[in-house]
Amino acid sequence: MRKKIAVVGAGHVGATVAQLTAYKELGDVVLVDVVEGVPQGKGLDLLESGSLEGFDSNIIGTNDYKDTANSDVVVITAGIPRKPGMSRDDLLSVNAKIVKSVTESIVKHSPDCIIIVVSNPLDIMAYLALKVSGFEKNRVIGMAGVLDSARFRAFIAMELGVSQEDVQAMVMGGHGDSMVPLLRYSTVSGIPITQLMSEERASKLADRTRNGGGEIVGLLKTGSAYYAPGSSAAQMVESIIRDKKRIIPCAAYLEGEYGINGLFVGVPVKLGAKGVEEIIKIELTRDELASLLKSAEDVKESVGKLEF
Ligand code: NAI
Ligand code: 2OP
Repeated sequence: MRKKIAVVGAGHVGATVAQLTAYKELGDVVLVDVVEGVPQGKGLDLLESGSLEGFDSNIIGTNDYKDTANSDVVVITAGIPRKPGMSRDDLLSVNAKIVKSVTESIVKHSPDCIIIVVSNPLDIMAYLALKVSGFEKNRVIGMAGVLDSARFRAFIAMELGVSQEDVQAMVMGGHGDSMVPLLRYSTVSGIPITQLMSEERASKLADRTRNGGGEIVGLLKTGSAYYAPGSSAAQMVESIIRDKKRIIPCAAYLEGEYGINGLFVGVPVKLGAKGVEEIIKIELTRDELASLLKSAEDVKESVGKLEF
């Protein structure tokens, strides 16, 4: 039987996730939004590309959560995106109301699903979805580290003039200005980037990564990034649906790992059919750990502003 993937929010990121999951034939896709006609129109449009792209996934758009019943994976992209001058935290109160109501509806119709949260501020919305759903911690995961690492990989590849495919990178921490790109764990075909460029150059790429979301907002002016975010969420859906057990950085609920308790923070995880199957603990220098704890402090401060 085909798997079922619900994508809530048929905006830029949601539509891109729906497109990529359909192209990869990960399952049938249900696109949900509050706006009447938009998910239906985008769903039908996408379905009509099936003969051209060679996929048989069924895709529907809807305003009714009944259509999402018994989904295996639900991706939450509902909410407003950042506009120039807005921080991710500015989105907190608006998106918290949206993510709370979306989570309640999802849980009602798909009590056994795995939830991937994309809506910002990411680590806080993932926390909210976990608390509202009442799910076990392995079944609620935030998408951020895959995206932040993909940006770092792209910048490294551009700097060195090498294939992006050969570049691996690790970005831990919250999905905010204090995220932690780890130079020591970033490589080109296994070669640490610190052997291929000066530390000063690598640090500049890390800074650009920290500002990666803001850089796109500054260019687009009317919204935020969606191609790389859509690809990142689709990669997570694939790892879960195909039980690939990929080791990728995701926002996971920590209970003591890295000295962090009761918060979602980006860490390397093993992602498979059960969701977060393992939190990988890597060795960090004193400075790296201090940066991670500082980032976790920022997440904690924002969680403190949550009312639900
Ligand atoms: P968008 O504005 O294009 O789409 C958002 C969609 O959510 C709209 O279609 C809107 O009608 C819908 N929506 C609003 N309230 C809803 C509700 N109660 N139920 C269902 N749908 C609802 O925004 P975009 O660019 O798709 O971004 C979506 C979210 O993802 C934003 O919060 C953005 O900040 C976040 N984001 C997070 C990233 C990450 O790395 N975690 C990366 C990129 C975006
Ligand atoms: C990004 O990093 C807006 O969080 C979003 O592009």
